[in-house]
Parts: sequence; structure tokens; C-alpha cells
Amino acid sequence: MKWRIASVAFLLGSLATGLSWLTLLPTLLHLMDVARRWVPSEGVEAAVLSRVRGFLPFALGLDLLVLVILAYIVLEFTVGRPLRATELAVGQLERLELDLTPISQGGPFLSRIQSALNRMAEALRREQALTRSQLEALRQANARLSRAQTELVSAERLATVGRLAAGVAHEVGNPLAGILGYLSLARMRAPTAELKDFLDRIDHEVHRIDGIVRGLLDLGRPRSGPLAPVDLGQVVETCVRLVRAGPELSRVEVGFALAPGLLARADPGPLSQIVINLLLNAAQAMGGQGTVRVSTGREANEVWLTVEDTGPGLTAEVMARLFEPFFTTKEGKGTGLGLAVSLHLAQGMGGKLTAENAPGGGARFTLWLTAA
Ligand SMILES: Nc1ncnc2c1ncn2[C@@H]1O[C@H](COP(=O)(O)OP(=O)(O)OP(=O)(O)O)[C@@H](O)[C@H]1O
Ligand SMILES: [Mg+2]
Repeated sequence: MKWRIASVAFLLGSLATGLSWLTLLPTLLHLMDVARRWVPSEGVEAAVLSRVRGFLPFALGLDLLVLVILAYIVLEFTVGRPLRATELAVGQLERLELDLTPISQGGPFLSRIQSALNRMAEALRREQALTRSQLEALRQANARLSRAQTELVSAERLATVGRLAAGVAHEVGNPLAGILGYLSLARMRAPTAELKDFLDRIDHEVHRIDGIVRGLLDLGRPRSGPLAPVDLGQVVETCVRLVRAGPELSRVEVGFALAPGLLARADPGPLSQIVINLLLNAAQAMGGQGTVRVSTGREANEVWLTVEDTGPGLTAEVMARLFEPFFTTKEGKGTGLGLAVSLHLAQGMGGKLTAENAPGGGARFTLWLTAA
């Protein structure tokens, strides 16, 4: 800053000197003519005076040339360059490139404009950051809204399916129990292996129908009884023991990471049903071989229970329809009611059930309940 003021002062000083020279020159020349008249014309003084007189216009010309060059240099540094830097910054602002480095070489003429530009860029940057954060908040709200909408549609669908189906299922349940009873008698008395095989197949299909009827009844039933503190770890251990006895989990390794003494506000029946559904799904997804990990924990006033497997995980298509009643990829083997019922039961206990892919592959289902 100081050197710029000095250079401007120097320029002005030089200009003043130049102008003084210009105005003084005729007087000086006149004085020299007068002086020459006083000294002997043949003397050394006269020769010197006449040389100085001849040199004076040349010295003035040189002085003016140096002045012009100096004026150019000083103007370039004090006005030209800052002006170009300002122009560049204005161009950047025009293109909304707001991360411009503060411009600071305005010199005596442009520094105020430049600091105004810097302040403007800073204000625009703040405005842009605010807009970005508002956009992000809007995007998150939108995502939450669409999740809530999906859950609502699914819940409404469940309620309708449940109400309708419960009536039918109730009526179908009794004849089914009769059919299953007679079937087991018939299988015991079947005279040929072929007939026994047919009866086995019928038994398998009737059991599937029975499964559907039970699922539908679950959907139509009030979601759960009174809630009380339930030890999550104990429920998990009981369920694993129960499911291990069946064929699905016999070759599956089960790992635990259970927080001791974790209490959830739940109904033990529906809670066990959810855990069993998740364990069976995990084992089926891995084709009966692999590792299932069950973990529990607490976050603020909620407790969570996670069932994670080492299976193929959930594709985007499956993920979108996971909790839909009757959605299954196990053609002929699954009813597609397991997760729909589990979600229904979880919501009935004031909780939720979420699904995601685990970082190392495989699916991860998390049940959230209120801590007791
Ligand atoms: N752990 C998992 N890994 C991969 N896919 C899964 C997993 N759990 C569920 N799924 C997918 O979600 C679908 C729906 O599961 P859901 O439990 O509702 O029905 P299901 O298992 O097919 O039938 P059911 O439970 O009546 O035997 C499954 O068919 C499967 O495609
Ligand atoms: Mg299932």
C-alpha cells in the first residue's frame, strides 16, 4: 500500500517537474541568451553557455520520455492490473464461482470496489451454503415422507387383507384341521409306497395351506396383548433353541452379541414369532449353510435386535416388496406372509422392523422396540 502511495506521489512529482521544465524552458533560454550577451563571444564561457543552451531541449525531451515510461509503469501497477483482477473476479461471480480468493491489489483507486466485491462474494457464499442445507433438509424430508407413505399403504393393505382374510381363514381352519388328521391316519395305513408318496405330497400342500391360514389369522388378529418388560436375550436364546431343532438351521452356525439384561416393552408371543421368522428367512436365504448373527443393543429409549446372515442379500426389487403380503421368491415353498406378519406384530408393539444389506453382503433385519 505504502509503495503504491509513494509511486503515485513520485508520478505526480515527476509530472510537476516536467511541467515546470516546460514552463521554465523559454525563460531559461532567454536567460542564457542574455547571459551570452554579457560574456565575451570568443571566451570559453560563451562556448559552454551555447552548449548548455543546445542541450536543454534535448534534456527536456529525455525527461518527458522517462516521465511517460514511468507514468505507464505506475498506472499499470496502480490501475491496469487491479482493474484486470477485478474484471476477472466479476466474471467469476457472474458464473457463480463463489470460491474466488479475495482480491486485494486494488491500489488507491480500486480497493474499495474490490472489498465491496469480496463482501458480496462472501454474502453469496453464505446464501449458497444456506440454500444447499435447506435443499438437503428438503430432500431428507421428502425421503421420510415417501417412506411414511409406503409404510401407510402397506399398513392399510395389511389391515384390509387381514380383516378380509381372518373371516375366511377362521372358516377354513376347522375343515383343514380335520383334513390333516385324516391324512395322517391315511398315511399310516397306506398299503403301497406309491400311495404313501401321494399322501405325503398332499400332506405337504395342506400344511402350506394351513401356514397361509395361520398367517392370515395373525394379520387379522389384534396385534398383541398387553406389553410388559421382556428380556430380549432370553427370548433370542429360546427361539434359536427351538428353530435349531428343525431342519433349516441344523447346519447353520449362530453367533450372538447379546447385551445382558436388556428389557423391551413387548408381548413375548409375537416377539418370538418375529425372531423365528427372521431366523428361518436367514437360514433359507443361505440355503441352510452359513452364519447367522443375532445382536441386541440399546439406543436412547429404544432397544434393537438384529438378525444378520451371510446369504446373497436383498436386491432392490426384493427390498421394495419385502413386507408386502404374499410376496415371496420361494415359489411353492413360501407363503410370503412371514415378514408382513412380523411387521404387523412389531408395529402392534409400538416398534418397527427395518431391512438393509449388511456391509459385508448378506441381509440384515432390525427390530426396534421401546426400552422397558
Ligand atoms: N434374510 C433374507 N435374505 C434374502 N432375502 C430374504 C431374506 N428374508 C426375506 N427375504 C426375501 O423376502 C421374501 C419375503 O419373505 P417372507 O418371510 O415374507 O416370506 P417367505 O419367507 O417367502 O415365506 P414364508 O415366510 O411364509 O415361509 C422372501 O421370499 C425372500 O425373497
Ligand atoms: Mg419367511
